[in-house]
Amino acid sequence: MVNRSTLFLSLALPFFTVARPLSQPDDAAIPLHKRFSLALPNGVFDHDTAVAVTVLVKNKHRQNLINIQNNFGADDFPEVRGARISSPASIPLAIRKRLEKRQAEALLDKGNGIAWTGLISIGTPGQQFVVDIDTGSSDLWVTSAWCGGSVCQGKNKYNSTASSTSQAQPETFALQYAGGLSVSGPLYTDTVSIAGITVTGQYFSPITSATPNFATYAYDGLLGLAFPSLSFMQQTPFLSMAVSQGSISKNAFGLKLGHGGSELYLGGANRELFTGSVELHNLSSSRGFWQVGGASIKVNGQEAVVSDFDTIIDSGTTLIYGPPEAVRQVYAQIPGSALIDRTNGFYSFPCNSAPVVSFNWGGKDWDISPSNFTFGEAQSGSNQCIGGLVALDLGLGSNVWLLGDSFMQNVYTTFDLDLNAVGFATLS
Ligand SMILES: *[C@@H]1O[C@H](CO)[C@@H](O)[C@H](O)[C@H]1NC(C)=O
Ligand SMILES: *[C@@H]1O[C@H](CO)[C@@H](O)[C@H](O)[C@H]1NC(C)=O
Ligand SMILES: *[C@@H]1O[C@H](CO)[C@@H](O)[C@H](O)[C@H]1NC(C)=O
Repeated sequence: MVNRSTLFLSLALPFFTVARPLSQPDDAAIPLHKRFSLALPNGVFDHDTAVAVTVLVKNKHRQNLINIQNNFGADDFPEVRGARISSPASIPLAIRKRLEKRQAEALLDKGNGIAWTGLISIGTPGQQFVVDIDTGSSDLWVTSAWCGGSVCQGKNKYNSTASSTSQAQPETFALQYAGGLSVSGPLYTDTVSIAGITVTGQYFSPITSATPNFATYAYDGLLGLAFPSLSFMQQTPFLSMAVSQGSISKNAFGLKLGHGGSELYLGGANRELFTGSVELHNLSSSRGFWQVGGASIKVNGQEAVVSDFDTIIDSGTTLIYGPPEAVRQVYAQIPGSALIDRTNGFYSFPCNSAPVVSFNWGGKDWDISPSNFTFGEAQSGSNQCIGGLVALDLGLGSNVWLLGDSFMQNVYTTFDLDLNAVGFATLS
């Protein structure tokens, strides 16, 4: 499971070297699996998978809104205009059938989960897991040794009996990603290590059941890196635990995704991976997302098409989602573009003139490279390509966009839980 990657996630430890014996810099490097593309091997947009991952994103953030409400209480709930908990989304039956058929024919490789994954260790002695690194949620879960059947086949599994530091907790865990991915299991605490940063008594769930599509995801679980208020478990996430236990001195991390060598850097930002200064932006909401306001979007460097909206930075999302009317205005600036799937909000544009779309938060324009904005041909030989910006209301608020990897691949991003800020810097 560890050796299926071409990229690396290394967890550099700037402050930790004083606390542990000097070691090879490489021992903080963690293999990373990333399948970013939503195109089939023939270069055609994988519409069915794109719909499936969109359902997953919808339900993940629906669950986040439920968690926020539970964690703040009905009265202190930070209101955001247009935010609402809608009913769970599900993958249309016809698409689900086609995906299941492909799965049965083994045409759908593992990796279609399209996630940035790294290695973590849980228990004493350590048991290793490949987890999705997700800045859009706040809980930790991995597959349990007691998850039977084909759903959990091939996963690395946590065995509480085999860990001397494992402790069962009375609560249970259940994330309703209905139709997308749904997981549940008991709660435990145990020692968790990420590249040498060790936390004791970390809450997590070894999941004992999951919906069948979990088998197709190229990871054993998920590490949430957002704020405690998004936690379903109502427990302190890994990074804050590491700070309170003195394992790390700064409650911050940096992410570089793609462009040759991907890295999660715990305890700050890795100066070697970006040039110039970090453009820092205070969070615009206390909901618990990495959410910053005052954003605008441009096409090919022209005047901003839409301005003054909020953005949630989510490494657990592949595409970029914006309110349908705003997204329509953006594509109106791209000659030859067309809405080709109204239900799911997918637009196409001429493949030979991919636009440079950029976001701006009052400082620099942060460009998305045309290749990171292009997700394959609409149909074989059509010369129209699908854009990474999707017109869909996810319920996060009427003026809130969700920025996933299509954007994040183009910048170095810093996340600071003490300053309550997100920063962007130019990749070196
Ligand atoms: C868990 O580990 C124990 C001790 O190593 C072993 O006896 C047991 O078979 C394992 N259980 C499962 C379900 O793998
Ligand atoms: C950001 O927040 C800090 C307090 O945390 C405040 O001092 C500063 O003025 C804020 N900056 C902006 C641009 O609002
Ligand atoms: C993203 O864009 C960069 C720069 O153009 C390129 O090197 C990289 O391969 C792109 N990634 C994907 C998945 O297209």
